[in-house]
Amino acid sequence: MIKVDYSQIAGFVPAGAVEAFEPRVKDAIEMLEKGTGKGNDFIGWVNLASSITPEFLADIKAAAQVLRENCDTVVVAGIGGSYLGARAVIEAFSNSFAQLVQDGKNPVILYAGNNISEDYLYELSEYLKGRKFGVINISKSGTTTETALAFRILKKQCEDQRGKEMARKVIVAVTDAKKGAARICADKEGYKSFIIPDNVGGRFSVLTPVGLLPIAVAGYDIEQLVKGAADMEKMTDSSVPFAQNPSAIYAAARNALYEQAGKKIEILVNFQPKLHFFAEWWKQLYGESEGKELKGIFPASVDFSTDLHSMGQWIQEGERTIYETVLSVDKVQHSVLFPSDEENLDGLNFLAGKHVDEVNKMAELGTQLAHVDGGVPNIRINIPELTEYWLGQLIYLFEKACGISGYLLQVNPFNQPGVEAYKKNMFALLNKPGYEAESKAILARLGK
Ligand code: PA5
Repeated sequence: MIKVDYSQIAGFVPAGAVEAFEPRVKDAIEMLEKGTGKGNDFIGWVNLASSITPEFLADIKAAAQVLRENCDTVVVAGIGGSYLGARAVIEAFSNSFAQLVQDGKNPVILYAGNNISEDYLYELSEYLKGRKFGVINISKSGTTTETALAFRILKKQCEDQRGKEMARKVIVAVTDAKKGAARICADKEGYKSFIIPDNVGGRFSVLTPVGLLPIAVAGYDIEQLVKGAADMEKMTDSSVPFAQNPSAIYAAARNALYEQAGKKIEILVNFQPKLHFFAEWWKQLYGESEGKELKGIFPASVDFSTDLHSMGQWIQEGERTIYETVLSVDKVQHSVLFPSDEENLDGLNFLAGKHVDEVNKMAELGTQLAHVDGGVPNIRINIPELTEYWLGQLIYLFEKACGISGYLLQVNPFNQPGVEAYKKNMFALLNKPGYEAESKAILARLGK
């Protein structure tokens, strides 16, 4: 079972502070379930996992199989919610050296459309030369600049390299049912396409084809992922008592720290580097959902013990505005024992015969104690094992807690108005048709 342990925030908030959130959390869950809260046109994710049918998964698996059979490499083009969920899951299960040890069983998954770097796109195009590659073009709006730019380049290269007919087979679109350039292009070219439901926003879309298709292409079990999420959906609904609802407890604990202990920054910590991108997904989920109206906990992340040697000093002794949420994986997949060494030059013979993970777990416990002593409250989330089922549970736990937290904060957790500001300036600077007035104003501001 996934467990949320908030015992290590006890010294930082008044006794009973977390439990006192129960009525507010109950109201928030009801708002999510009944659709009576802010942004209620984007709560399709709440009951999504339990409504996914075997037929729907079979359709995704069939499309994934076409890509698996015809490609050695698949590029996932998308940004934000249109790629982070897939990458979080794929990297959690992939061999750490996947690109180096291609075993031919699964295609290599690469990512594009999540930056505007010319060098990145050049190097990607070079890597893809001579390879049998396919593309999954993911964009709900179908008009996101980063993704559209990369897709235009990838589409051309795929057609030039593999021929129009094969390109039609190995390019798949995941986009809106009707609107946007990605939909128009998919329909015109006859690509296989999947629909992103209207009522599911990007950062809550990992259990739609946005996440499920790339995950299936990579060779992972989407049935188990969805089953885990559906089980967590049941474990966090309004019929479950507060103390047994992991999303409720997590949301209450983090908001108690925010409201009553001045903890404005949450650091998601892992001791397994494979969870690096899971934290990237989590940061977007919470950052884009809560950071508005001059409110919101700032979501940050670190990979330990790596970052104990870079960020560790700040966390131990810097400004006391942070708390940690540690993702602790109970069971690792492989076994490596420390060998004994006759000369013992490094003095590590006291570890001989121990599993590496035993040392890692002691680093984790030692860090927790040191950080709590140093004024950093600690929430610990235990995951039995890194499998599709448990990751599905964890994804839904965080999504539900995010919806609850947004409502506790009294913001609309499902919009992202602030994301438009940079786009408006970028289009004005690039003289995009329709932005004439903005172009004039921005040039004047820059004194040009
Ligand atoms: O969560 C969100 O809504 C965003 O992060 C979007 O997913 C991101 O901006 C990409 O948008 P789109 O899928 O329309 O290309």
